[in-house]
Parts: sequence; structure tokens; C-alpha cells
Amino acid sequence: MSYDRIKVESLRDKVVTAEEAAKLFENGMVVGSSGFTKAGDSKAVLAALADRAQTENVQVTLITGASLGHGIDGKLAEAGALKKRMPFQVDPVLRKKINAGEVLFIDQHLSETAELIHNKNLPAVDIAVLEIAAIFKDGSLLPTTSVGNSVTFANEAKQVILEINLAVSEDVFGIHDIYQSEDYPRRNVIPIVACENRIGRKTIPFDVSKVSAIVFTNIPDSPADIAAPDEKTTAIASHILAFFEKEVALGHLTESLLPLQAGIGKVANAVLTGFKDSSFKNLTMFSEVLQDSTFDLIDAGIMDFASASSITVSQECYERVFNNLDKYRDKMVLRPQNISNTPGLIRRLGVIAINTAIEFDIYGNVNSTHISGSKIMNGIGGSGDFARNAYLSIFVTQAASKDDKISHVLPMVSHHDHTEHDVDILVTDQGLADLRGLAPRERAQVIIDNCVHPDYKEELQSYFDRACVRGGQTPHLLEEAFAWHIRLSEQGTMKK
Ligand code: COA
Repeated sequence: MSYDRIKVESLRDKVVTAEEAAKLFENGMVVGSSGFTKAGDSKAVLAALADRAQTENVQVTLITGASLGHGIDGKLAEAGALKKRMPFQVDPVLRKKINAGEVLFIDQHLSETAELIHNKNLPAVDIAVLEIAAIFKDGSLLPTTSVGNSVTFANEAKQVILEINLAVSEDVFGIHDIYQSEDYPRRNVIPIVACENRIGRKTIPFDVSKVSAIVFTNIPDSPADIAAPDEKTTAIASHILAFFEKEVALGHLTESLLPLQAGIGKVANAVLTGFKDSSFKNLTMFSEVLQDSTFDLIDAGIMDFASASSITVSQECYERVFNNLDKYRDKMVLRPQNISNTPGLIRRLGVIAINTAIEFDIYGNVNSTHISGSKIMNGIGGSGDFARNAYLSIFVTQAASKDDKISHVLPMVSHHDHTEHDVDILVTDQGLADLRGLAPRERAQVIIDNCVHPDYKEELQSYFDRACVRGGQTPHLLEEAFAWHIRLSEQGTMKK
């Protein structure tokens, strides 16, 4: 039964156990793996590599689409199997190792990795591990719940280990759109002018002579843990929805808005959930991850189409979608991440991007990745791809956290991911700052008036006023700019 998934019969004798496949890794190799926000990742072979690394010196550079599920990144890090990791991660164990300097991490725009590999700006990939649902007669590969960087890994890797996941039905055929851009120079335009355009093949073209092992698994993706909307996320969502309503009333947008991109997490989820009880209709998504709220909006008849690179949903939603693929197949598409996140397409489609900040400053610079300027949280992910090129770039965060000991609006961010030039709208539970058309001094006042937690407002206003006396296009008091961070590290609170 399972061997039916290998339709090139000559490949059937390549089937081995995950442990046998893991023996193919050598110390120092560069490994490319499928997996994007815990979807379509290697469930067995990378875990077997972690087991091997417990007793053997085998350390690799691991490149994926984005984050992996099932704690695999943590297992690999704990076993010492990772020398370098890119382009994104969310694992608490790996995070600790990175911040301790034991694993090197390259935090990369998710649209770029495939391009860097293909153009030889990164070392060659020795082995790829790709989760698939089937190998077709023409040798092409049917991806599972994400596409990520799998097309590039399939093309560029010297050898490929395939993980056929029997937990994913072959009915996924038709949800993927596999398109590859031409080489430089004179690369052609990517012919997508609307979210629903399908421009490529349904499977990944592949040279089967590169297969070095095939492993069967039967393990579903790690489900997304989605926190239900709370008071703060609901407040943020209502500020954003009120803003959209105003833009429609002014005739700047229609009730369908423009294609939406939303970062993963509880705020994005709350915003999208808020659309359910709104007057918006015929919405579309051009994003990198499809979440529960996407399918809720499709079911409610409010969203017409959603394009991304992966599906990361709760167990309940997973069953709803994958047991009813006929219902959703013509309402969604999964693309390689260098297509879903292509700057040119984001600009062309006029995407409205909603991403989460760890903190932002009075001029609208955003830190999405580092705690207190030094410690990585997750990574920039696709937020930079979208923010810089969006029709509207929105960042959200809570005004304060940890019993309000931490203010998320600061004199100066402790790490820059998105500069003031890439940020149009900032939103906290306190309110929304519309920064369009404002110069830095105007931006600062609008941010202080609308976004800051009351406990921090007076001090931030005082900082700004005193900085303005000193002067400058973007006034600062450098000796004081990080005082809030320093107070937090020395006294456990940013409050004076
Ligand atoms: N010092 C210490 N802790 C701080 C801090 C500081 N200066 N500033 C923030 N924090 C803490 C918060 O208190 C909170 O801690 P908790 O998890 O223990 O409550 C945590 O950092 C941030 O969490 P939260 O505010 O709940 O945000 P989140 O879970 O929604 O995640 C990001 C926010 C920015 C980490 C997350 O969205 C991310 O990784 N973004 C980058 C990738 C991305 O945007 N991808 C977009 C496309 S999917």
C-alpha cells in the first residue's frame, strides 16, 4: 500500500529506515530540509540525525524553509548536531543555544534563501531531506502541507532523502503551484497579477537519480497552538478594523480591501477573526502561512482566496481542511517561499501587511527579533519581505507587558529590523498611530499620543521634548536612549 506512493518502481529498493538514512550525513555537511512554520517538515530523518549526534561527532549546517515542528530543532541543538542554522527558528532549546553562542544563526528574509542558494551565494547543499506525499511516474514530487524551499533543495542538492508521509493523503494534489524563475540576467516577470493566479506545475520537477534514500513516516504536522483572543489582542484588532472601515468610508479602499498578509500568532489571529463580524467581504490573502482564521473566513464566505507557502493550523482545523480538500482546493494555493514572499509581487498586488513587533520606538523603527538588543527571539521571517514592499505596512504589539514592567514603545529600539521608512501604521492595545505623510517629529508625537501605556507616557513625552530642544531631524538624547532597557536589566522594570 505505502509503496504505491512511489510510482517510479525502480526507486522502491531505496526504502530504508530513518536510522539508515541518517548515516548518510557527514560531519560538516550542508543540509537543506523541507518545513515551513512547522508544516511539511522532516519528522523522522532529522530526528534520527539528532539521535546519531548523541554519540557521534556529526555537526551540520541546517537550512530550512522556516521553523520546524515536533521539537526537532531543539533535539538537534541539544545533541550538538547544529553548527549553523538558517533562515528562521522558533524553538526554545535552539534559541538558548544560539544566545549562548553554541549554534550560529543567520536570521534571513524568507524570500532570499532560495535565491542565495541558487546563485551560489551560500555553500552548496550536500543533502536535502524533503517530506512529500508521493513520487509520481515522471519522477516529480508531490509536496505535503508546505512548499517552502523544497523546490530549490530538490534542484540544488547533490543527493536527496525523501520522507513519504502517509499521514498526508495524495488528495493534496492540486493545492500547490510550483514555479521557478529564470536565471539572471534578463529574468522574466513572475506572471501573477491576482492572488488566485496559478502559474506553475502541481508537482516539483525532480531528477530521481539524486535519491539516496526513501523513508516512510506516518506522523501529522505539529499543530499550531493558537491562543484565543484576549483583551489586548481584541483591542488591537478593533483599532485595525476601525482604521480599515475609515479607509473604506474615505474611498481609499473597497470592502474587499487588498490582499492581506498576517504574521502568525495571537494578534494576527485576533485581527483576522475580527473580520468575521465586519462588513468586509470578498477578502483575499497573499501571505506566507495560512492559519485557522483563514479557513474560518473562507467557511464564513468572507474570504474568497488565500495564497501562501504553508498551512499551519490547529488539530481541529487540520482535520476540517484535509478531510474536505475538494471544498478548499480552488480557494487556496501553496507556493515556493521565494514566490509567496517575492518583493515585486507584494508591491504589485498591493498587499496590506500586518506583522508583530517586540518593540518600536517614537520614530516608528521596529524590532521584531531581539530581546534587549542582544538575544534572538525567533527571527525576521517574512516580515521584512512584506513590510518594505506593502501597500500598507502595519506593526502591532502590546503597549506594555509583564505586569507593565516592560514598555513596548521606547525612546530607541534596541535592535532594528524594520526602519521608519518601512512602517506606515503602528498599533497597540492603547490605540493606532497613522504615520503616513508624517516627518519624524510628527511621527513621534502621534505615537506618544496614541500607542504608549499610560505609565510610560509622561517620561516618553519628556524624552522627546528634551531631545527636540537639542535638535536634529530625528532628535535623540543618546546618553538616555537606552536608559529604559538598562533599568529593566538592572532593576527588573523599565519604570522609573
Ligand atoms: N525584555 C524582555 N522581554 C521582552 C522585552 C524586553 N525588552 N520585550 C518584549 N519581551 C517579551 C514579552 O514580555 C513577551 O514575553 P512572554 O512571551 O513571556 O509574554 C515576548 O517578549 C513577546 O511576546 P508577545 O508580545 O506575546 O509577542 P508574540 O508572541 O506575538 O511574538 C514576535 C512577537 C515579534 C516575537 C513574533 O511575532 C515574531 O517572531 N515575529 C518575527 C517573525 C515575523 O514577523 N514573521 C511574520 C510572518 S509569519
